[in-house]
Amino acid sequence: MAYDRFGSDDVLSLRELPDPKVGPGEVRIRVRRAGVNPVDWKAMSGGLDALMDAVFPVVPGWDVAGVVEAVGIDVPEFSVGDEVVAYARKDVLHGGTFGELVTMNVRGVAPKPAALGWEEAGGLPLAGLTALQTLDRLAVTAADTVLIHGGAGGVGALAVQIAQARGARVIATASPANHEFLAELGATPVAYGEGLVQRVRTVAPDGVDVVADFVGGVREVTMAVLAGHGRHASIADASVLETGGSWFWVRPSAAGLVELGRLADAGDLRVPIADILPLDQLPDAFTRSRQGHVRGKLVIAISE
Ligand SMILES: NC(=O)c1ccc[n+]([C@@H]2O[C@H](COP(=O)([O-])OP(=O)(O)OC[C@H]3O[C@@H](n4cnc5c(N)ncnc54)[C@H](OP(=O)(O)O)[C@@H]3O)[C@@H](O)[C@H]2O)c1
Repeated sequence: MAYDRFGSDDVLSLRELPDPKVGPGEVRIRVRRAGVNPVDWKAMSGGLDALMDAVFPVVPGWDVAGVVEAVGIDVPEFSVGDEVVAYARKDVLHGGTFGELVTMNVRGVAPKPAALGWEEAGGLPLAGLTALQTLDRLAVTAADTVLIHGGAGGVGALAVQIAQARGARVIATASPANHEFLAELGATPVAYGEGLVQRVRTVAPDGVDVVADFVGGVREVTMAVLAGHGRHASIADASVLETGGSWFWVRPSAAGLVELGRLADAGDLRVPIADILPLDQLPDAFTRSRQGHVRGKLVIAISE
């Protein structure tokens, strides 16, 4: 699936493109499953144009689970046939994962976790790295009570589990329909919206040590529930900088993917799958993602 100009879902079309070249330090991956992330349609609408050059036609998509199909010059890390996952963000907007083949520098590639099926593996990289790196930046430990805004989304559902694997106590926001889901992941669920500060105070009377915002628009709530020594970060609201928080952006990291695989293989991390769609339904997947209520990950199935 590719687009030749910025726009909404109607700029996407299914087409034949040349196989991507595989350069030094890169692998070419035959894509089995590719996770959908909000950044895919935000970038397609031109939302990252100030940050990244686009080289049209753009194949969107930055998440992949698949099989190494070719290796470039000097790639001792991987061989043809290896099952891998990658956060395949490039330096330019081009050559993404919603296609049969994608190349990626090994800095963003790791072995597929044995405990995860192809769907789960395809939904892991971007959301998993975002969750892991945000919690690392916030130095979350077993001593912390953590509030996660957006616990039922792709990033949030993974962050709830990673924070718990570190021994932290986790409170997470979602609509009531997702409270049982959050409780199954081990979090104390609270409903977002009016009265949220009071609901958090009810379950954490002394305030929380850490707030991780995966939604945006909740800065005032964050500051009202954070204990005096508290740390906070947002992946969706640059204005956290004004209140001493971190405005966090995920980076490709093979080491981070290995750590996520270790958590999955230890039974501490699963990737909740909302739905699996074929490649030609990518526009529908983007429409659903844009509505903002996907639980866990939407995944595109591309090859067997
Ligand atoms: N800076 C970065 O590096 C980075 C990385 C990844 C993602 N992001 C951004 O972070 C955001 C989240 O990404 P994602 O992949 O997790 O998105 P997602 O999977 O599409 O998130 C959907 C979830 O958001 C929940 N939600 C909607 N409104 C909410 C609210 N007001 N309070 C709490 N939860 C709410 C929904 O739960 P209910 O159905 O219960 O409402 C749903 O489960 C997006 O804006 C994305 O672009 C940034």
